[in-house]
Amino acid sequence: MAEKIVIAGATGNLGTRIAHALSKRGADVVALGRIGARANKLKALESLRVKIRIVDMASVSDLAKECDGAACVVSVLAGLRDVIVDTQSIVLEAALAARVPRFIPSDYSMDFPKQPDGENRNLDLRREFHRRLDAAPIASTSIFNGPFGEVLTMYNHVPLLDFNQKMVGYWEDPDWRIGFTTMNDVAEYTAAAALDQRAPRALRIASFSVSPRELAKFTADVMKTPFQLVRLGGLEDLRAQNKSERAAHPEGENELYPLWQVGQYMLSMFSIRHAPNDNDRYPGLKWTSLADLVAQRS
Ligand SMILES: NC(=O)c1ccc[n+]([C@@H]2O[C@H](COP(=O)([O-])OP(=O)(O)OC[C@H]3O[C@@H](n4cnc5c(N)ncnc54)[C@H](OP(=O)(O)O)[C@@H]3O)[C@@H](O)[C@H]2O)c1
Repeated sequence: MAEKIVIAGATGNLGTRIAHALSKRGADVVALGRIGARANKLKALESLRVKIRIVDMASVSDLAKECDGAACVVSVLAGLRDVIVDTQSIVLEAALAARVPRFIPSDYSMDFPKQPDGENRNLDLRREFHRRLDAAPIASTSIFNGPFGEVLTMYNHVPLLDFNQKMVGYWEDPDWRIGFTTMNDVAEYTAAAALDQRAPRALRIASFSVSPRELAKFTADVMKTPFQLVRLGGLEDLRAQNKSERAAHPEGENELYPLWQVGQYMLSMFSIRHAPNDNDRYPGLKWTSLADLVAQRS
Protein backbone atom coordinates (compact mmCIF):
# COMPACT_ATOMS: atom_id res chain seq x y z
CA MET A 1 0.00 0.00 0.00
CA ALA A 2 1.23 3.52 -0.81
CA GLU A 3 2.64 5.36 2.19
CA LYS A 4 0.71 8.41 3.28
CA ILE A 5 2.77 11.61 3.55
CA VAL A 6 1.24 14.88 4.78
CA ILE A 7 2.71 18.21 3.63
CA ALA A 8 2.13 21.43 5.59
CA GLY A 9 2.95 24.42 3.38
CA ALA A 10 2.17 22.45 0.23
CA THR A 11 0.98 25.57 -1.60
CA GLY A 12 4.44 27.16 -1.39
CA ASN A 13 7.26 27.25 -3.90
CA LEU A 14 9.21 24.36 -2.40
CA GLY A 15 6.13 22.63 -0.96
CA THR A 16 4.50 22.20 -4.38
CA ARG A 17 7.74 20.74 -5.76
CA ILE A 18 7.93 18.27 -2.85
CA ALA A 19 4.29 17.28 -3.42
CA HIS A 20 5.13 16.65 -7.08
CA ALA A 21 8.24 14.61 -6.24
CA LEU A 22 6.35 12.50 -3.69
CA SER A 23 3.52 11.92 -6.11
CA LYS A 24 6.02 10.68 -8.75
CA ARG A 25 7.35 8.22 -6.14
CA GLY A 26 3.84 6.80 -5.73
CA ALA A 27 3.16 8.17 -2.25
CA ASP A 28 -0.36 8.89 -1.03
CA VAL A 29 0.15 12.65 -0.68
CA VAL A 30 -2.08 14.85 1.45
CA ALA A 31 -1.34 18.50 0.67
CA LEU A 32 -2.51 20.89 3.36
CA GLY A 33 -3.52 24.43 2.48
CA ARG A 34 -4.67 27.08 4.93
CA ILE A 35 -8.15 28.61 4.86
CA GLY A 36 -7.99 31.41 2.28
CA ALA A 37 -5.22 29.75 0.26
CA ARG A 38 -4.92 31.48 -3.09
CA ALA A 39 -6.62 29.83 -6.08
CA ASN A 40 -3.53 29.91 -8.34
CA LYS A 41 -1.50 28.06 -5.70
CA LEU A 42 -4.18 25.41 -5.29
CA LYS A 43 -4.40 25.06 -9.07
CA ALA A 44 -0.71 24.15 -9.22
CA LEU A 45 -1.43 21.31 -6.79
CA GLU A 46 -4.62 20.19 -8.53
CA SER A 47 -2.70 19.05 -11.59
CA LEU A 48 -0.72 16.64 -9.39
CA ARG A 49 -2.04 13.33 -8.04
CA VAL A 50 -2.42 14.66 -4.48
CA LYS A 51 -5.32 15.08 -2.06
CA ILE A 52 -5.78 18.75 -1.26
CA ARG A 53 -7.20 19.52 2.17
CA ILE A 54 -7.99 23.05 3.31
CA VAL A 55 -7.63 23.13 7.08
CA ASP A 56 -7.66 25.49 10.04
CA MET A 57 -3.93 25.62 10.75
CA ALA A 58 -4.66 26.74 14.32
CA SER A 59 -6.61 23.57 15.13
CA VAL A 60 -4.59 20.62 16.41
CA SER A 61 -7.61 18.32 16.18
CA ASP A 62 -8.42 19.27 12.55
CA LEU A 63 -4.79 18.80 11.55
CA ALA A 64 -4.53 15.53 13.50
CA LYS A 65 -7.48 14.12 11.50
CA GLU A 66 -5.56 14.77 8.27
CA CYS A 67 -2.37 13.28 9.76
CA ASP A 68 -4.07 10.04 10.80
CA GLY A 69 -2.24 7.04 9.34
CA ALA A 70 0.62 9.09 7.87
CA ALA A 71 4.18 7.76 7.83
CA CYS A 72 5.67 11.25 7.89
CA VAL A 73 4.62 14.89 8.16
CA VAL A 74 6.72 17.23 6.03
CA SER A 75 6.67 20.89 7.00
CA VAL A 76 7.53 23.39 4.27
CA LEU A 77 6.08 26.44 6.03
CA ALA A 78 7.82 29.79 5.59
CA GLY A 79 7.53 32.83 7.81
CA LEU A 80 8.66 34.45 11.02
CA ARG A 81 8.13 33.30 14.64
CA ASP A 82 4.32 33.08 14.30
CA VAL A 83 4.83 30.48 11.56
CA ILE A 84 8.18 28.76 12.15
CA VAL A 85 7.72 28.42 15.92
CA ASP A 86 3.97 28.78 16.56
CA THR A 87 2.20 27.26 13.54
CA GLN A 88 4.87 24.63 13.07
CA SER A 89 4.45 23.63 16.74
CA ILE A 90 0.71 23.14 16.13
CA VAL A 91 1.51 20.90 13.16
CA LEU A 92 3.98 18.99 15.35
CA GLU A 93 1.34 18.59 18.09
CA ALA A 94 -1.09 17.25 15.49
CA ALA A 95 1.49 14.76 14.23
CA LEU A 96 2.05 13.60 17.82
CA ALA A 97 -1.69 13.35 18.48
CA ALA A 98 -2.09 11.19 15.35
CA ARG A 99 0.94 9.08 16.37
CA VAL A 100 2.81 9.85 13.16
CA PRO A 101 6.30 8.32 13.59
CA ARG A 102 8.34 10.88 11.62
CA PHE A 103 8.57 14.64 11.03
CA ILE A 104 10.62 16.77 8.62
CA PRO A 105 10.83 20.37 9.87
CA SER A 106 10.92 23.39 7.56
CA ASP A 107 14.71 23.86 7.65
CA TYR A 108 16.05 23.46 4.05
CA SER A 109 18.96 25.67 4.96
CA MET A 110 22.55 25.83 6.02
CA ASP A 111 23.66 23.57 8.85
CA PHE A 112 22.53 26.12 11.46
CA PRO A 113 23.15 24.13 14.64
CA LYS A 114 26.80 25.00 13.90
CA GLN A 115 26.13 28.77 14.07
CA PRO A 116 25.94 30.71 17.36
CA ASP A 117 22.64 32.36 18.36
CA GLY A 118 22.11 35.93 17.23
CA GLU A 119 23.92 35.81 13.88
CA ASN A 120 20.97 34.87 11.65
CA ARG A 121 17.45 35.75 12.84
CA ASN A 122 15.63 33.34 10.48
CA LEU A 123 17.89 30.45 11.44
CA ASP A 124 17.55 31.31 15.16
CA LEU A 125 13.79 30.74 14.79
CA ARG A 126 14.46 27.27 13.42
CA ARG A 127 16.79 26.57 16.35
CA GLU A 128 14.00 27.66 18.70
CA PHE A 129 11.58 25.24 17.03
CA HIS A 130 14.20 22.46 17.18
CA ARG A 131 14.26 22.70 20.98
CA ARG A 132 10.58 21.67 20.96
CA LEU A 133 11.06 19.09 18.22
CA ASP A 134 14.02 17.43 19.93
CA ALA A 135 12.03 17.11 23.15
CA ALA A 136 9.04 15.50 21.37
CA PRO A 137 8.57 11.72 21.06
CA ILE A 138 8.88 11.64 17.26
CA ALA A 139 11.79 10.90 14.92
CA SER A 140 12.83 13.89 12.84
CA THR A 141 15.06 14.60 9.87
CA SER A 142 16.42 18.04 8.95
CA ILE A 143 17.44 18.66 5.37
CA PHE A 144 20.54 20.87 5.30
CA ASN A 145 20.93 21.88 1.67
CA GLY A 146 22.85 25.15 2.01
CA PRO A 147 21.48 28.12 0.08
CA PHE A 148 19.19 27.33 -2.83
CA GLY A 149 21.19 27.39 -6.09
CA GLU A 150 18.65 29.88 -7.43
CA VAL A 151 19.96 32.43 -4.89
CA LEU A 152 22.85 32.88 -7.32
CA THR A 153 20.78 33.29 -10.46
CA MET A 154 17.31 34.62 -9.57
CA TYR A 155 18.50 38.11 -8.68
CA ASN A 156 20.86 40.57 -10.33
CA HIS A 157 22.54 41.97 -7.26
CA VAL A 158 23.42 39.18 -4.79
CA PRO A 159 26.98 40.15 -3.71
CA LEU A 160 28.34 36.66 -4.35
CA LEU A 161 27.31 36.76 -8.02
CA ASP A 162 26.36 40.32 -8.84
CA PHE A 163 25.20 40.43 -12.47
CA ASN A 164 24.70 44.21 -12.35
CA GLN A 165 28.24 45.03 -11.22
CA LYS A 166 29.88 41.98 -12.83
CA MET A 167 31.36 41.14 -9.46
CA VAL A 168 31.96 38.07 -7.34
CA GLY A 169 32.02 39.50 -3.82
CA TYR A 170 33.28 37.52 -0.83
CA TRP A 171 34.13 37.88 2.84
CA GLU A 172 37.32 36.68 4.44
CA ASP A 173 38.39 33.75 2.26
CA PRO A 174 38.16 33.55 -1.57
CA ASP A 175 38.65 29.77 -1.39
CA TRP A 176 35.78 29.10 1.06
CA ARG A 177 33.52 26.57 -0.67
CA ILE A 178 29.77 26.91 -0.33
CA GLY A 179 27.37 24.07 -1.12
CA PHE A 180 24.24 25.12 -3.06
CA THR A 181 21.19 22.98 -3.86
CA THR A 182 18.55 23.85 -6.44
CA MET A 183 14.92 23.83 -5.34
CA ASN A 184 14.04 20.84 -7.53
CA ASP A 185 17.00 18.88 -6.17
CA VAL A 186 15.93 19.71 -2.59
CA ALA A 187 12.39 18.59 -3.41
CA GLU A 188 13.45 15.28 -4.98
CA TYR A 189 15.75 14.53 -2.05
CA THR A 190 13.18 15.52 0.60
CA ALA A 191 10.61 13.23 -1.05
CA ALA A 192 13.06 10.32 -0.82
CA ALA A 193 13.82 11.18 2.82
CA ALA A 194 10.12 11.40 3.68
CA LEU A 195 9.68 7.81 2.49
CA ASP A 196 12.85 6.59 4.27
CA GLN A 197 11.93 5.09 7.64
CA ARG A 198 15.60 5.01 8.60
CA ALA A 199 16.41 8.62 7.72
CA PRO A 200 18.75 10.07 10.38
CA ARG A 201 18.33 13.29 12.39
CA ALA A 202 20.11 15.35 9.71
CA LEU A 203 20.93 14.96 6.02
CA ARG A 204 23.47 17.24 4.34
CA ILE A 205 23.37 17.71 0.58
CA ALA A 206 24.49 20.02 -2.23
CA SER A 207 23.86 20.07 -5.97
CA PHE A 208 27.30 21.67 -6.36
CA SER A 209 29.94 23.36 -4.21
CA VAL A 210 31.88 26.37 -5.37
CA SER A 211 34.24 28.99 -3.88
CA PRO A 212 34.24 32.70 -4.86
CA ARG A 213 37.52 32.22 -6.72
CA GLU A 214 36.02 29.28 -8.66
CA LEU A 215 32.88 31.30 -9.32
CA ALA A 216 34.94 34.15 -10.81
CA LYS A 217 36.81 31.64 -13.00
CA PHE A 218 33.45 30.18 -14.05
CA THR A 219 32.21 33.59 -15.19
CA ALA A 220 35.29 33.96 -17.41
CA ASP A 221 35.58 30.37 -18.71
CA VAL A 222 31.93 29.33 -19.06
CA MET A 223 29.87 32.52 -19.13
CA LYS A 224 32.53 34.27 -21.23
CA THR A 225 31.92 37.45 -19.20
CA PRO A 226 34.62 37.78 -16.53
CA PHE A 227 33.31 39.07 -13.19
CA GLN A 228 35.81 40.74 -10.87
CA LEU A 229 36.68 38.91 -7.63
CA VAL A 230 36.24 41.52 -4.87
CA ARG A 231 36.96 41.21 -1.14
CA LEU A 232 34.09 42.90 0.71
CA GLY A 233 35.70 42.57 4.14
CA GLY A 234 36.39 40.08 6.87
CA LEU A 235 33.76 38.11 8.81
CA GLU A 236 34.05 40.53 11.73
CA ASP A 237 33.26 43.42 9.36
CA LEU A 238 30.19 41.57 8.11
CA ARG A 239 29.05 40.76 11.67
CA ALA A 240 29.40 44.44 12.67
CA GLN A 241 27.60 45.64 9.51
CA ASN A 242 24.69 43.23 10.08
CA LYS A 243 24.37 44.39 13.67
CA SER A 244 24.28 48.08 12.81
CA GLU A 245 21.95 47.57 9.82
CA ARG A 246 19.54 45.57 11.98
CA ALA A 247 19.58 48.26 14.69
CA ALA A 248 18.99 50.98 12.05
CA HIS A 249 16.06 49.13 10.43
CA PRO A 250 13.78 47.77 13.16
CA GLU A 251 10.91 47.58 10.63
CA GLY A 252 12.78 44.59 9.18
CA GLU A 253 11.85 42.60 12.31
CA ASN A 254 8.42 42.14 10.70
CA GLU A 255 9.77 41.22 7.26
CA LEU A 256 11.04 37.81 6.19
CA TYR A 257 13.94 39.03 4.06
CA PRO A 258 14.94 42.61 5.01
CA LEU A 259 18.31 43.72 3.66
CA TRP A 260 20.08 42.97 6.97
CA GLN A 261 18.69 39.42 6.84
CA VAL A 262 20.38 38.98 3.45
CA GLY A 263 23.64 40.10 5.15
CA GLN A 264 23.01 37.53 7.88
CA TYR A 265 22.60 34.80 5.25
CA MET A 266 25.91 35.90 3.69
CA LEU A 267 27.53 35.51 7.12
CA SER A 268 26.03 32.02 7.47
CA MET A 269 27.31 31.08 3.99
CA PHE A 270 30.84 32.22 4.79
CA SER A 271 31.02 30.85 8.33
CA ILE A 272 29.07 27.56 8.47
CA ARG A 273 31.19 24.75 7.09
CA HIS A 274 28.86 22.68 4.90
CA ALA A 275 29.81 19.05 4.33
CA PRO A 276 27.36 17.51 1.83
CA ASN A 277 28.02 13.88 2.78
CA ASP A 278 24.56 12.46 2.12
CA ASN A 279 24.10 13.06 -1.63
CA ASP A 280 24.44 9.34 -2.40
CA ARG A 281 21.97 8.05 0.17
CA TYR A 282 19.16 7.67 -2.39
CA PRO A 283 20.00 6.16 -5.79
CA GLY A 284 18.77 7.63 -9.05
CA LEU A 285 18.87 11.31 -8.09
CA LYS A 286 20.44 13.69 -10.59
CA TRP A 287 22.21 16.78 -9.24
CA THR A 288 22.04 20.08 -11.12
CA SER A 289 25.40 21.59 -12.05
CA LEU A 290 26.28 25.27 -11.76
CA ALA A 291 26.56 25.40 -15.57
CA ASP A 292 23.03 23.99 -16.00
CA LEU A 293 21.64 26.40 -13.43
CA VAL A 294 23.20 29.44 -15.08
CA ALA A 295 22.07 28.22 -18.52
CA GLN A 296 18.47 28.11 -17.23
CA ARG A 297 18.76 31.80 -16.33
CA SER A 298 19.28 32.99 -19.86
N1 LIG B 1 18.08 27.64 1.57
C1 LIG B 1 17.57 28.68 0.94
O1 LIG B 1 18.27 29.42 0.22
C2 LIG B 1 16.09 28.96 1.03
C3 LIG B 1 15.53 29.97 0.22
C4 LIG B 1 14.15 30.18 0.30
C5 LIG B 1 13.38 29.42 1.17
N2 LIG B 1 13.98 28.47 1.95
C6 LIG B 1 13.19 27.68 2.92
O2 LIG B 1 12.33 26.76 2.24
C7 LIG B 1 11.12 26.59 2.99
C8 LIG B 1 9.93 26.89 2.09
O3 LIG B 1 10.07 28.19 1.55
P1 LIG B 1 9.28 28.66 0.24
O4 LIG B 1 10.14 29.62 -0.47
O5 LIG B 1 8.71 27.48 -0.48
O6 LIG B 1 8.09 29.50 0.92
P2 LIG B 1 6.71 30.00 0.25
O7 LIG B 1 6.69 29.81 -1.20
O8 LIG B 1 6.48 31.38 0.80
O9 LIG B 1 5.64 28.99 0.90
C9 LIG B 1 5.38 29.03 2.28
C10 LIG B 1 4.26 28.07 2.63
O10 LIG B 1 3.92 28.30 4.02
C11 LIG B 1 2.52 28.62 4.09
N3 LIG B 1 2.27 29.55 5.17
C12 LIG B 1 2.89 30.75 5.38
N4 LIG B 1 2.36 31.33 6.49
C13 LIG B 1 1.43 30.47 6.98
C14 LIG B 1 0.56 30.51 8.10
N5 LIG B 1 0.54 31.54 8.95
N6 LIG B 1 -0.26 29.46 8.29
C15 LIG B 1 -0.24 28.41 7.44
N7 LIG B 1 0.54 28.32 6.34
C16 LIG B 1 1.37 29.35 6.13
C17 LIG B 1 2.19 29.25 2.74
O11 LIG B 1 0.80 29.20 2.54
P3 LIG B 1 0.09 30.18 1.46
O12 LIG B 1 0.41 29.61 0.10
O13 LIG B 1 -1.35 30.10 1.79
O14 LIG B 1 0.70 31.55 1.63
C18 LIG B 1 2.97 28.32 1.82
O15 LIG B 1 2.31 27.10 1.66
C19 LIG B 1 11.25 27.50 4.21
O16 LIG B 1 11.82 26.79 5.28
C20 LIG B 1 12.24 28.55 3.73
O17 LIG B 1 12.94 29.19 4.76
C21 LIG B 1 15.31 28.21 1.89
